[in-house]
Amino acid sequence: MSELSKSPKPIPIIAPRAAFEELKAETEAAVLRVLASGDYILGAETAAFEKESAEYLGATHSIGVSSGTEALLVALQELDVGPGDEVIVPNFTFIATATVVARLGARPVFVDIEAETYQMSVEAFARAITPRTRAVIPVHLYGHPGPIESYLCVAQSAPQPIAVIEDAAQAIGTVCTVSGQRVKAGAAGVWGCFSFYPTKNLPACGEAGLMVTSSAAHAERARQLRAHGMDAPYRHKLLGGNARLDAIQSAILRVRLRKLEEWNSKRRAHAAIYDRLFTESGILTQREGLRLPPRSRDGEVANYHQYTIRAPGRDALKAHLQERGISSGVYYPIPVSMQPVFASLGARPGDFPAAEAASREVLSLPVHQHLEPGDVERIASEVVAFYLR
Ligand SMILES: Cc1ncc(COP(=O)(O)O)c(C=O)c1O
Repeated sequence: MSELSKSPKPIPIIAPRAAFEELKAETEAAVLRVLASGDYILGAETAAFEKESAEYLGATHSIGVSSGTEALLVALQELDVGPGDEVIVPNFTFIATATVVARLGARPVFVDIEAETYQMSVEAFARAITPRTRAVIPVHLYGHPGPIESYLCVAQSAPQPIAVIEDAAQAIGTVCTVSGQRVKAGAAGVWGCFSFYPTKNLPACGEAGLMVTSSAAHAERARQLRAHGMDAPYRHKLLGGNARLDAIQSAILRVRLRKLEEWNSKRRAHAAIYDRLFTESGILTQREGLRLPPRSRDGEVANYHQYTIRAPGRDALKAHLQERGISSGVYYPIPVSMQPVFASLGARPGDFPAAEAASREVLSLPVHQHLEPGDVERIASEVVAFYLR
């Protein structure tokens, strides 16, 4: 056997082409339908996707936009957030959660996460509220259900109105609980914002995003803001931009939305195998600090956008896996407050101990729905081998 044929099959952490292969005929038909229609921007396909995604999410109004970042930006614009305002954001998230705030001239106020769950700390959020706070953007990080009911309670008990904008970019299909009711992530806040970046659980074949709300008034303004603030043909009432969703992406997303529950179930099944194998191996008790992803509370369901372990010696583990053909990911290696772009806000090392520790130790293992039989077992056995060596 040659060296090449002996090397194990690579396991990628993402597989964007696989969704196309699985649904090739339907996807091609959908794309061709749009090409033949001549209706390329928003149009009937986007209207249909908005209706179907609203039904899926249990939201009253659903607005297709050109990315998850634009969803967050339009939500803040719609709420008139601007200079002099503060918006509270977790310090451990993708950069867009915070940059949208600063791009509008408002100040992102970073708060630490819960060490165990990686979600924004409820207490730290409450402590960070000032008379200038206009909104908070909790993130359902890794697709785990954040404590949205607690965030809503804190926001509602503040002296001034504080809008809760859920960053559900990673959390389509995740289930939270509010007042004992099961609510899809994104459907509980004033706005819920989603990303369909090609590596997300509901992937587009390009850029795409969505915003949902239960308020007709908010929805109307957001629809105007996504299209140059227009309220009548070539009459521009609001200072909008171009955040419109392409019809081709909407058509592809409609095909894939029908598969989402099945795909999320596969991710959960992969996560359950990891949990079992790591527990049975004994490494969790032998290696201090090594932890499984957080458990969901009763009634809540994670979509496992990522399967993220707390991994002492993270970089060495990542290299160990890579040498054996297994890709893994670090989301995120730098807390948002320590990013160069936010240097002027003056955060110092030690200000956010939980976020800083997480950024040194989190590692996401492949969990997507297109892993092949035996992949999870192979990855788990390499992680176990690393910790037992
Ligand atoms: C938590 C979070 N917020 C916002 C975004 C931005 O979404 P997009 O890449 O579609 O602009 C992402 C996606 O990467 C994300 O993971």
